[in-house]
Amino acid sequence: MRFAAAIVLAIVLAFCSQVEAGVWPRSRPYVVGHRGACGYRPDHTMASYQLAVDMGADFIECDVVLTKDLVPVCRHEPLLSDTTDADAKFPSLIKTNTIDGYNYTGVFANDLTLAELKTLRARQPLPERDQSFNGLYPVPTLEEYIALAKAAPRTVGIYPETKHPTWHDSLPIVKAAQTTMSDIVLDVLEKHGYKGPVNSKAWSRQPAFIQSFEVGNLKYLSRKTCIPLVQLMDDFTAAIPDMPTKTYSDLMTDAAMKDIATYASGVGPWKNTLVRAKAGANVTANGAGLESTGLVERIHKYGMQLHPYTFRDEAYRLTYGSFSTPWDEYELFFDKMGIDGAFTDSADTLKTFFNEKAKEQGRLWNTGAVINRAGRPKPHNPKC
Ligand SMILES: *[C@@H]1O[C@H](CO)[C@@H](O)[C@H](O)[C@H]1NC(C)=O
Ligand SMILES: *[C@@H]1O[C@H](CO)[C@@H](O)[C@H](O)[C@H]1NC(C)=O
Repeated sequence: MRFAAAIVLAIVLAFCSQVEAGVWPRSRPYVVGHRGACGYRPDHTMASYQLAVDMGADFIECDVVLTKDLVPVCRHEPLLSDTTDADAKFPSLIKTNTIDGYNYTGVFANDLTLAELKTLRARQPLPERDQSFNGLYPVPTLEEYIALAKAAPRTVGIYPETKHPTWHDSLPIVKAAQTTMSDIVLDVLEKHGYKGPVNSKAWSRQPAFIQSFEVGNLKYLSRKTCIPLVQLMDDFTAAIPDMPTKTYSDLMTDAAMKDIATYASGVGPWKNTLVRAKAGANVTANGAGLESTGLVERIHKYGMQLHPYTFRDEAYRLTYGSFSTPWDEYELFFDKMGIDGAFTDSADTLKTFFNEKAKEQGRLWNTGAVINRAGRPKPHNPKC
């Protein structure tokens, strides 16, 4: 009898762990591996993505830029000089480009063919992080990154970002091909079976969000695909690249949120725009003295998910410098503010936080109201 009970228990436990491992959409917020696990490996390398998967990330993130032969590859910026040995390998291609109002000098992805780009090796751009993996890993293509996500032993989503789409679309090589960066990225995702809308059966098998700091390309994509879109937002006073007379504070109003909800399923704001010091209060240890700016509430009011960036373990990077550990920062943003996911450089820290919280609460989260909501009809694309 006791033996039979043990067998039943083992079967139940096996079933539960399978459910937890395999079922999407999730009932708890998402761990988004920012540039993979870039707290430990050079950004946007297969080693970084694989480590994030191994650490339990729900999504891995690829910032997409284009090569000279219009192959989408994973890099934080078209400028390769900060994260690779491009300047040493292609010194004759060093130049200055103005992208969205900033001047960058070095070697750019759009001046290298994929074959040339593949000769580069990545390096860790932050001096305080582990430099021992420099010079080992090539720059992955969007397709290689997708293959890694699909080969994971459990469902792992992709979270590509179109980087500077207006600037990319202005390049003669893109114009000559009569295409756009959005179409190039979307073609690859569709080829690999990604579909929307958010939380549909097809999406839950191969989850994906497409993110961008620009507005126009997301509106364009919303007419062409049901894959859920995420509107990224920078600091209040930062100019929107494709709406240069406007700043992100113009996207944060109630009316703007209502419009964003017509094309996007989520918003990815800078975490510091979600909180502010209470009037007259000191911002002291672990978020005491901080209050909501109202942005979290407005995003949720329109039924959108909220995935702020970027959570990092280093003490000096904790929001407002007022948190003693990343754990305390996660408690404020997940427990009190109710965010639905976070971009993190250390997927293991956030995953551990979720596991511990799940044990504490005996169940997983109550933010499921938004995160599990089915995709809503999009006026831009009635098929979704
Ligand atoms: C970028 O470079 C151009 C040409 O040298 C210069 O006129 C402009 O002021 C620079 N912009 C910034 C933001 O530094
Ligand atoms: C804030 O901190 C400063 C310096 O520690 C202190 O002088 C001041 O009284 C504090 N203000 C409040 C409202 O707690």
